[in-house]
Amino acid sequence: MRDENLMRTYMPRRDAASRSTTSTSETQPMSRSAAETGAPTSGLLDSYRVAREPYYRAVGDEVALYEAAYSVRMPIMLKGPTGCGKTRFVEYMAWKLGKPLITVACNEDMTASDLVGRFLLDASGTRWQDGPLALAARHGAICYLDEVVEARQDTTVVIHPLTDARRILPLEKKGEIIEAHPDFQVVISYNPGYQSLMKDLKQSTKQRFGALDFNYPEHETEAEIVAHESGVGVDVAKNLVHIAERARNLKGHGLDEGISTRMLIYAGSLIAKGVAPLAACRVALVRPITDDPDMRDALDSAVTTYF
Ligand SMILES: Nc1ncnc2c1ncn2[C@@H]1O[C@H](COP(=O)(O)OP(=O)(O)OP(=O)(O)O)[C@@H](O)[C@H]1O
Ligand SMILES: [Mg+2]
Repeated sequence: MRDENLMRTYMPRRDAASRSTTSTSETQPMSRSAAETGAPTSGLLDSYRVAREPYYRAVGDEVALYEAAYSVRMPIMLKGPTGCGKTRFVEYMAWKLGKPLITVACNEDMTASDLVGRFLLDASGTRWQDGPLALAARHGAICYLDEVVEARQDTTVVIHPLTDARRILPLEKKGEIIEAHPDFQVVISYNPGYQSLMKDLKQSTKQRFGALDFNYPEHETEAEIVAHESGVGVDVAKNLVHIAERARNLKGHGLDEGISTRMLIYAGSLIAKGVAPLAACRVALVRPITDDPDMRDALDSAVTTYF
């Protein structure tokens, strides 16, 4: 009984899910603001809609897991090395769920105001401009904070009240508290292993998120993706994946990072344009990831094994 009361009075995340624009059965009390009721966002976020279905080749149960997480408005962390499909996945999910997607590329110079918003001076005086996080929270978008560890920790903490049960964003300078729109969700990306101890998410940030692990797909799937995205045939794509697998085995033995799916797509695109495979692989796979002459030789010989 007590629990039911609690649920009725203070369950912002569950309320958000049930008030979402996808559920039409519930009528809302008059006092709720547009942001809270999930009313149409009057075209404000139209430019953030993913217009066409992005090509995304699922590699496991990540689509179903994300949908379940979104249905309870759980903030999600996408973990995985560079160029393995995290951004593509979130674009695909935004399209599938029919929600606008606001992406923020985080960097260490970013301040809380860059996320939340600031007063601007114009001819008619000062006016408030929502930052991307406030825009997403107010009008109901998925806010994707790419490379969130790049941001300073004092910046990252502004997402805390939005990513726990409160689902609010206090705009201290403006004296306003935004109650997150029911469709709002935070997604962050994170490259495990790139962090130093100084540059990692706080536990209090990490523990506000569910996490999905990403990695390079298994051979056949990755070749399918490379062929689709670059326009080369599957046989060429498979050879490219073989080369990448060799390079990935050198990670930690002279290479900081293996060859990503993105790099394979670059190589494939050059080959599809008529560049000789050897040259294409040197430009797109070997030279970008290492300057070490021995390592370049080792990778070159992997290339010549397959082309
Ligand atoms: N599962 C997949 N389905 C379709 N395309 C994929 C998939 N995985 C990777 N790709 C392709 O690889 C490219 C790179 O992926 P993406 O940009 O999503 O990487 P990322 O994980 O976000 O990397 P970073 O951490 O550097 O931002 C995409 O543009 C897409 O073409
Ligand atoms: Mg990305």
